[in-house]
Amino acid sequence: MTAARDAVFARLAEHRNATEGVSLRELFAADPKRFETFSAAQDDLLYDFSKTHLTAETLNLLVELAKAADVEGQRDAMFSGEKINTTENRAVLHTALRAPEGSRILVDGEDVMPLVLAERAKAAAFAEAVRSGELRGATGETFTDIVNIGIGGSDLGPAMAAIALSPYAQDGLTGHFVSNVDGAHISDTLKGLDPARTLILVASKTFTTLETMSNAKAARAWLVEKLGEDAVAKHFAAISTNAEAVAAFGMDTERMFQFWDWVGGRYSLWSVIGLSFEILIGAKNFQAFLDGAHEIDAHFRLTPLKENIPVLMGLVGVWHRNICGWPSHAVLPYDQRLARFAAYLQQLDMESNGKSVTREGAPVTTKTGPVVWGEPGTNGQHAFYQLLHQGTDVVPADILMAAVPHESVGDQHAMLLANALAQGEAFMRGRTTAEAAEVLRKAGKSEAEIAALSPHKTFPGSRPTAAIAYRTLDPRTLGRLIALYEHKVFVQGVIWGINSFDQWGVELGKELASRLIPVVKGEAPTDGLDGSTKGLVEHLAALRAD
Ligand code: F6P
Repeated sequence: MTAARDAVFARLAEHRNATEGVSLRELFAADPKRFETFSAAQDDLLYDFSKTHLTAETLNLLVELAKAADVEGQRDAMFSGEKINTTENRAVLHTALRAPEGSRILVDGEDVMPLVLAERAKAAAFAEAVRSGELRGATGETFTDIVNIGIGGSDLGPAMAAIALSPYAQDGLTGHFVSNVDGAHISDTLKGLDPARTLILVASKTFTTLETMSNAKAARAWLVEKLGEDAVAKHFAAISTNAEAVAAFGMDTERMFQFWDWVGGRYSLWSVIGLSFEILIGAKNFQAFLDGAHEIDAHFRLTPLKENIPVLMGLVGVWHRNICGWPSHAVLPYDQRLARFAAYLQQLDMESNGKSVTREGAPVTTKTGPVVWGEPGTNGQHAFYQLLHQGTDVVPADILMAAVPHESVGDQHAMLLANALAQGEAFMRGRTTAEAAEVLRKAGKSEAEIAALSPHKTFPGSRPTAAIAYRTLDPRTLGRLIALYEHKVFVQGVIWGINSFDQWGVELGKELASRLIPVVKGEAPTDGLDGSTKGLVEHLAALRAD
């Protein structure tokens, strides 16, 4: 399989050599149907990759690559509950979390759907009871503030989705998300909250994560100080796969919401990890969010590769990363409520595909995951787009946009869309030095000024972007967008031959941090530390002693 894949990679490289000089402008000039040919839709959601350098031949080769790497076989293995996370000997079934009633999905011969549906119903009932005021705190007050304590996959998803779907949140309910072990985070969050009206969800797949456990202890102490020990049961709930650790932490397992080891942390938003934002938006909207993701699951399973949006997204990314050699990928939502979307995708993509060995443990022979980053437009335009337009590196980008906003503030939505479209056009077209000179000439500049300024006003162009356009950012569409990126990451992981579902790379830092905690506290010697770490520990200790 690797040999077949590498043979297609070699043909793609030759193809790139032969076509590298052709600009995006030229591709559009040569083919008036380029937009129709290089775009795909799922209902209202459109993926337009015509502003990349792909030609019909490139796409054919990339689809051959997907076939040679057995993307379809691996996809079917994932959906059917095979243990494709080989280093942890686990199935990968976040797709079961959004599967509808009546589905049957087996892990080790057991149908997991009854468990999934029971936990989904339990979370929905809890969310509705909090929203209606049926469920109250120790003093009989209704809850107004929901604090989710978690980190990574137990934080980024609900925190991102709470912002994205804020128009659907119930008035009078506010979500707060605490992740960092920096005490500033929990302190700033709890400051000003009324404990009698605060519900605290401790979300951790393992229930051993240092940051979450420390913040949970701090929140518990804050609550107990104000309301007494007996209030804990009414103000806390746990979300975990680890009932033993929940009990050991002193939390009531009756108030525990469960998920399973076949749900990766960064894929857990669809499980009870989504409880905090389900409380905010309600069970009906949460179900629409799950249904949206399930639509994309069906699309991914059933649509031919050339029209399959997550497959296309993955292939375009492989083209940019492996064949063009570009190391980073920007996500630029022209949709302010997707403010944390790039941060969410960073974990999804970089924790999944930031790997250097194959599934078999051999060194990879291709580049793997790119650096993923981004900020909403138009803000980014006034910050980092300078580099995207005129810097020495090419940074491919996704530009996301909604046709219909939730608010109409004058004609600002038209302005927003115009900016999104203009950026895609500017990246694609660029501006030649001759064109820059012409603009300056029309502005009445002298020939000397034109000669001096035109190099600075030249844009190389031919910088690829893909657009993702949808009707509106509602629960269904957020579910669809996340699922698209999940499957894109999957497709790329399969092509690179890596396990996208483990995350051993986070372990070393955790181990070293636990060794350093007593050293930083001054309870253990600095012996054996490298010179720099020792020097820093001593410098910090001296400052703290002042
Ligand atoms: O350190 C990385 C990680 O394990 C992520 O994969 C995970 O999402 C996060 O930490 C939080 O883990 P947990 O939910 O077990 O607290």
